[in-house]
Amino acid sequence: MRTEESKTASTILYSLLIFLTFIKVEARNYKQVCSSSSCGEINNISYPFRLRGDPSGCGDPDYELSCVNNKTILEIFPGKYYVKNISYEDQVLRLVDVNFANANRSCSLPSGSVENTDGFVTDFRFKGVLDSLGSRFRFVKCSRNISSLQEAANHTTVPCLTRNGSYVYAVYDGEYSYYNPQPSCSVVSLAPVDLLHDINYKFPSYEAVMELLEAGFFVGWSLECRDCSLAGKSCVVKSWDKPLTYICERENKELTRSQGNLIIAGIVVGGLIALLVIIGILVFFVRKYRTRRNASSSTEKN
Ligand SMILES: *[C@@H]1O[C@H](CO)[C@@H](O)[C@H](O)[C@H]1NC(C)=O
Ligand SMILES: *[C@@H]1O[C@H](CO)[C@@H](O)[C@H](O)[C@H]1NC(C)=O
Ligand SMILES: *[C@@H]1O[C@H](CO)[C@@H](O)[C@H](O)[C@H]1NC(C)=O
Ligand SMILES: *[C@@H]1O[C@H](CO)[C@@H](O)[C@H](O)[C@H]1NC(C)=O
Ligand SMILES: *[C@@H]1O[C@H](CO)[C@@H](O)[C@H](O)[C@H]1NC(C)=O
Ligand SMILES: *[C@@H]1O[C@H](CO)[C@@H](O)[C@H](O)[C@H]1NC(C)=O
Ligand SMILES: *[C@@H]1O[C@H](CO)[C@@H](O)[C@H](O)[C@H]1NC(C)=O
Repeated sequence: MRTEESKTASTILYSLLIFLTFIKVEARNYKQVCSSSSCGEINNISYPFRLRGDPSGCGDPDYELSCVNNKTILEIFPGKYYVKNISYEDQVLRLVDVNFANANRSCSLPSGSVENTDGFVTDFRFKGVLDSLGSRFRFVKCSRNISSLQEAANHTTVPCLTRNGSYVYAVYDGEYSYYNPQPSCSVVSLAPVDLLHDINYKFPSYEAVMELLEAGFFVGWSLECRDCSLAGKSCVVKSWDKPLTYICERENKELTRSQGNLIIAGIVVGGLIALLVIIGILVFFVRKYRTRRNASSSTEKN
């Protein structure tokens, strides 16, 4: 009776163990098999991207997109952008600011600031390198009408944002050039656009400005660069074979005082040890030599 009971118990335990192992394996498999998600024209949303509502564990939470009315949306920088294309090969996204999208040409400033005033992407998740340098429109607000100034010929008036006492202009910047605003003006926002090779865009019409903004821009993503950023480092390209790989830039930080002291202490201790070893060797040989001499002298005496 007793052995019967223990037999049953062990059988139950054993099956439980197998069952648990099975569940574990299943869970792991489940996590690994994340089918790509789809939203409107973007039908290939996969790692590192995830769509809001995807099973947790699919994609990286840092790269979450949402789907609203069949439009894929990325909220960053902070701002709202339609995702027009995802290239896993080039590791780039094509984005269009919702404020400049076709259906929304209500005339407004960019919804966020993708770049800082130096033209560098601010978000730590999108520090990837792009094939070509981007360019941008700077939105400039002035307290007086500068349209007639010769120096402001490349300033395109944004009519709907211009009202008495406040004049808003868009200025195209094809390079990372230093922009010195006119007196009475200041930069209020930046919007990236593709680099243009057509010189006529130096003085674009407002319609041309809007077309460019509506066409969107690229940002490059990189998980490696994100991780470098989180560690307080910048990243550099390790291999230019696509998809690009990056490594964190080695910091050549100056040594702190305690680190310096440690190194000095290490040298001193190391030197002392070396000295002791040399003395030891010397003593050993001197002793050997002496005993030999003593031995030979004693034989001489005899
Ligand atoms: C979707 O993306 C994966 C990489 O994540 C790629 O291997 C696959 O070819 C893509 N499919 C299409 C239809 O673009
Ligand atoms: C989204 O697209 C699918 C098919 O592509 C369609 O059946 C659905 O009605 C669309 N939804 C909206 C809100 O447009
Ligand atoms: C994304 O871009 C690739 C080429 O870069 C193109 O072949 C593809 O059709 C684009 N996809 C969408 C949804 O626009
Ligand atoms: C227009 O822009 C607003 C925010 O400025 C956004 O909430 C809305 O979804 C946009 N609509 C379209 C159709 O893009
Ligand atoms: C600014 O000045 C230009 C030229 O002097 C003029 O054509 C334009 O109407 C003025 N704009 C506003 C908003 O007053
Ligand atoms: C706009 O024109 C002025 C005067 O010609 C020039 O100094 C400035 O660099 C130009 N700005 C850009 C962004 O090209
Ligand atoms: C704009 O300013 C001018 C002078 O400062 C004034 O005469 C005019 O009435 C103002 N217009 C509006 C619409 O406020």
